[in-house]
Amino acid sequence: MTDETQQTDLTEDEKNLLKELLVHGDDLSVFGQQRRHFLKQLIGAGGAIVAFQLLGEQSIFAESLPDNFPAENIENGIRINFNVNGAKKSLEIDSRMTLLDSLRERLQLTGSKKGCDHGQCGACTVIVDGRRVLSCLTLAATCEGKSVQTIEGFAKAGSLHPMQAAFLKHDGFQCGFCTPGQICSGIALISEAKNGDASYVTEDVRNTGKEFLLSDDEIRERMSGNICRCGAYANIVAAIKEVLGGKEVAQHWPLIAQTEQAFANNIQ
Ligand code: FES
Ligand code: FES
Repeated sequence: MTDETQQTDLTEDEKNLLKELLVHGDDLSVFGQQRRHFLKQLIGAGGAIVAFQLLGEQSIFAESLPDNFPAENIENGIRINFNVNGAKKSLEIDSRMTLLDSLRERLQLTGSKKGCDHGQCGACTVIVDGRRVLSCLTLAATCEGKSVQTIEGFAKAGSLHPMQAAFLKHDGFQCGFCTPGQICSGIALISEAKNGDASYVTEDVRNTGKEFLLSDDEIRERMSGNICRCGAYANIVAAIKEVLGGKEVAQHWPLIAQTEQAFANNIQ
């Protein structure tokens, strides 16, 4: 019959691997190693390695990371200085960090949403130096010295920005996930119209400067980069139209109108 101790002795490879993992180079004989013990230690060492890796990543993305966190402690660390919603900010970041992650993870400005992280949904739209950008496709490092506006910066002294108020009035949202990006886009769209920027559906590009008021088609085209999974598009267009024209636009309640009509028909 085979001795159980012999069965569980470590192989040479296992002993070498364990020696490499032991932090203080301890002698294996101290541990009286047997296979089961060895495997336990191996699993423990593996867990510790994973934990260290996670902690390392955490040090880059931790929300609690202070603004003055030393750049040398961050992989590819650089310092950027920019203005966010009217306040000067100076951050040490990984040079590969996107503007969206910098806003959300380092400045706790979580209004801008990460919908796709691939430039396809518009949920992360913010305004940089007056123009809308997809913050998931913009490296924070490119915003040095620039001015960034996010949804958190539009309401002033307890009053909503007219675009925010119009979205509320016209019910331009359902779940609200796309709404910060839609509102940022809508606000920037008005500046673009004032500057005379043409779009794909502009009929006469020579008259854009004078054509400040946009048709529904123009608004739809210019907002086409902002996807709304809830399908609140008709109300979003109405809200933007109202702010753009400065005149009240009738609320768009087709379902309610139909229900009311059916109710009225029934009681006649
Ligand atoms: Fe940026 Fe979708 S998260 S476009
Ligand atoms: Fe839900 Fe637009 S309101 S995705």
